[in-house]
Amino acid sequence: MSDTIVIDGGRRLEGSVPVLGAKNAVLKHMVATLLAPGRHRIENVPDIVDVRIMTEVLRHVGASCRFEDSVLEIDVPDAPAPEAPLDLVRQMRASILVLGSLLARCGSARVALPGGDDFGSRPIDFHVRGLEAMGATFELDHGVLVASAPDGLHGTDVFLEFPSVGATENLLLAAVLARGASTIRNAAREPELEDLAEFLMKMGAKIDGAGTSTIEIHGVPDLSPAVHRTVPDRLEAGTYLVAGAMSAGTVTVVDCVPEHLRMELAKLRAAGCEVSTTPSSITVTGPERPQPVDIATLPYPGFHTDMHPQLVSFLSVADGTSIVTENIYAGRFRYLGELGRMGAQAVADGQHVVIRGVETLSGCEVDACDIRAGAAIAIAGLRGEGVTTIHDAAHIDRGYQDFVLKLASLGAAIERH
Ligand code: UD1
Repeated sequence: MSDTIVIDGGRRLEGSVPVLGAKNAVLKHMVATLLAPGRHRIENVPDIVDVRIMTEVLRHVGASCRFEDSVLEIDVPDAPAPEAPLDLVRQMRASILVLGSLLARCGSARVALPGGDDFGSRPIDFHVRGLEAMGATFELDHGVLVASAPDGLHGTDVFLEFPSVGATENLLLAAVLARGASTIRNAAREPELEDLAEFLMKMGAKIDGAGTSTIEIHGVPDLSPAVHRTVPDRLEAGTYLVAGAMSAGTVTVVDCVPEHLRMELAKLRAAGCEVSTTPSSITVTGPERPQPVDIATLPYPGFHTDMHPQLVSFLSVADGTSIVTENIYAGRFRYLGELGRMGAQAVADGQHVVIRGVETLSGCEVDACDIRAGAAIAIAGLRGEGVTTIHDAAHIDRGYQDFVLKLASLGAAIERH
């Protein structure tokens, strides 16, 4: 696929668009399949680059995967190879989650240690400390994290310093097959994590409290393959709603769960959008110019860090000054330089972005730095005067299936070149 998206700005978006399953849930379901040999079936799977990379990780471990019409079938062998190589872990941070599953299933794991990325460093100390409390030992062998638990893992009581999504998932994946009971306190409460727990329970895991801050797990000796439909992607939904709002148009997102976007919708309302919901759809009409609002990203149910760049784009044309505070990944500001080239006045000061609203943005050549930054820049391009050319658009494909087609179906003048 070509790597450039071209947008001729200034069209109002109108219409409705469906969303698929959540990237941040389906990648975890894929890892969870390693816990039980046999054929699993995951439905509502988006055809995005990150799913393809995770498919490679599973193949490396010995599983075979078939992906057709949003359905992913995974055959897991009786004896997986407990290893995830650097080239795959480097391409996608979520690969680190194989640590918990492989340790639980095989008693050992060799996973290349991920370095930093565009968000700055993404530490895994909570993952490692929690797994150590379950009886695993770790050593670093030439950049590869070597984990072992030759006598198997045992249940434990872990208190997370921060409700980390990745650490909660890794510990949950390990605990379902550990001997005895585990409790994860100050656990992440994200809907994608609750969806992972639902999948694990269909496999036979005993889990209580997923979606709350205290998750209790009773380890079982083995699990069986399962069929599961992935929870809708709240980030894909939110991105198209902000795109519609930015164009001062009206966009309806269908097949989503409005409750999962409560905080994000509250901020859109505060910025002057009209918002209405049904049990499975959200409609947003954008104002001619947004009102300024202040936002702080927080763990769920707070404002999602992965919606921050899109909102900064939107607020860049507000009638006043907004402040967005990034509490999860303070390093995710590279896209501000790109927005600045389009005329936005948004500057980072520590973990805060101060956005002085301007009346118009102008199209120019920009780079998509990561998935959400790419989406944010496309949103700016929809409003900008003239043509915006987004290079490195492949970043957007990591998180959005048919991004260009969906925006075009809403009336955007957007093409892949
Ligand atoms: C983050 C998002 C998650 C999203 C995912 C993919 C949050 C809280 N998490 O999850 O919703 O699905 O990106 O885009 O919004 N940390 C440590 N040590 C660790 C683990 C984490 O210090 O061992 C820190 C991180 O640096 C970060 C915070 O905890 O500041 C949250 O990290 P975490 O939730 O684990 O991040 P992801 O799993 O990447």
